[in-house]
Amino acid sequence: MAAATTKLLLSDLASTVKSVPSSYIRPISDRPNLTEVQISDGSIPLVDLQVLNGPSRLDTIKQIGQACQHDGFFQSERLKSYSDDPSKSTRLSTSFNVNTEKISNWRDYLRLHCYPLQDYMHEWPSNPPSFREVVAEYCTSVRGLVLRLLEAISESLGLQRDFIDKALGKHGQHMALNYYPPCPQPDLTYGLPGHTDPNLITVLLQDDVPGLQVLRNGKWLPVSPIPNTFIVNIGDQMQVLSNDRYKSVLHRALVNCDKERISIPTFYCPSPDAVIAPAKDLIDERHPAVYKNFTYAEYYQKFWNRGLDERCLDLFKASTA
Ligand code: OGA
Ligand code: NI
Repeated sequence: MAAATTKLLLSDLASTVKSVPSSYIRPISDRPNLTEVQISDGSIPLVDLQVLNGPSRLDTIKQIGQACQHDGFFQSERLKSYSDDPSKSTRLSTSFNVNTEKISNWRDYLRLHCYPLQDYMHEWPSNPPSFREVVAEYCTSVRGLVLRLLEAISESLGLQRDFIDKALGKHGQHMALNYYPPCPQPDLTYGLPGHTDPNLITVLLQDDVPGLQVLRNGKWLPVSPIPNTFIVNIGDQMQVLSNDRYKSVLHRALVNCDKERISIPTFYCPSPDAVIAPAKDLIDERHPAVYKNFTYAEYYQKFWNRGLDERCLDLFKASTA
């Protein structure tokens, strides 16, 4: 038997190759085609959340509502956390789901569950020594931000301020640390192909290397990094709760030849046993319930087992019979 050297992580392979291995190459009809990308960006609305605490709260809530509607390193020790089982709460992996996907993505990632912290922190990497403390503090801050956003978004839908909070059961919070190595042929592959996030709402921290794009009016719009800014995007569960008033928008990550890129999304989600359904107050004769009831656990399992570029939401539509 010939001995094949398998590299589990892309980071171990990326710097040793001059061309993209065939398993990463997309068919021609599914490549980051530059003619479909809008040249200018800057039309993703910027909302100042500080104002939520002041007299102009209602204006900001309106802005958030509008935005929701329209835009709808690790070393040998790192392999201790390696797992390709998406149900593990702490794991280092590569691409998306190496067990089910046909084409690989140019990405390694560490995924952590982060709420409640005391249930998960002991599983996190213990190196570097400050990792747990620093990441825990970050998680707590981002959770505070998300809770304020959820109140504002509830109000923007005309619902009670605590509506979304209550709809999530015990709440869940996951985080990914995405690492996109430089890629010798970035036009043949993706860091992440076009997808929507399966959770409720995502708060993304990105470094200063461009790569993120969102689909708007059929064109991919680059979201250039702005220092000290989070990107917030609506996920599938918000689309369901809002009965399609707010849309979970397709987005993707491209890679480039010369710079590595790191992004850190926080995925805020319902707890697995929470039953998700369109808000009753957003259902009437003219707006029948678009989705049936389901548990977040059911949804999440479907998400990991399908291709990242297949939409899960369609599987949970109410029957129109
Ligand atoms: C994701 C994602 C975008 C990025 O992890 O779901 O969309 O810029 N990441 O890394
Ligand atoms: Ni995403």
